[in-house]
Amino acid sequence: MQAAHPSRNPEHMKPLLIIANTPSPNTQTLRSAVADGARSAAIEPVVCTPFEADAAHVRRAGAIILGTTENFGYMSGALKDFFERIYYPCLEETQGLSMALYVKAGNDGQGAKTSVDRIVTGLRWNAVQEPLILSGDFQATFTAQCYELGAGMAEGLKMGIF
Ligand SMILES: Cc1cc2nc3c(=O)[nH]c(=O)nc-3n(C[C@H](O)[C@H](O)[C@H](O)COP(=O)(O)O)c2cc1C
Repeated sequence: MQAAHPSRNPEHMKPLLIIANTPSPNTQTLRSAVADGARSAAIEPVVCTPFEADAAHVRRAGAIILGTTENFGYMSGALKDFFERIYYPCLEETQGLSMALYVKAGNDGQGAKTSVDRIVTGLRWNAVQEPLILSGDFQATFTAQCYELGAGMAEGLKMGIF
């Protein structure tokens, strides 16, 4: 896991947390693009897999970007494991947390989106933009969209919008 770099982030700012499973080269590319987008806004994010992330990461975060593959019409098992571990430990303390979601799917993505939406609603996190659903044959635009997602969330966090 990559730690936040204190010299790059404004002192008062809570970190941007990027949690995404990366079972393939394409999904690694997408998560890297999200992180690079944040860096383009001079923010060093904390980047980890769902298995590495715990409730303490979430409590410390200023905003979260979640990334998941769609598997069997649902979010990845890795992200579901994350939610199962953090749901009750975070429920009271993280309401209103700004978040965004991207889904990498083979040909659909709606099931993953809906499954994450339901849990995020339960946690009362605040989705600051529509989920990004990246479906079908891999395209360069997917990478660009993930970069923009990271940049936008980092800018919002830096400017204190979230
Ligand atoms: C076990 C398994 C189940 C999957 N189920 C779905 C699914 O329900 N819907 C879908 O659109 N893609 C599904 N996929 C495709 C994955 O979402 C896709 O492999 C993932 O986004 C990685 O994309 P890549 O092959 O471009 O790296 C599944 C893949 C696996 C391995």
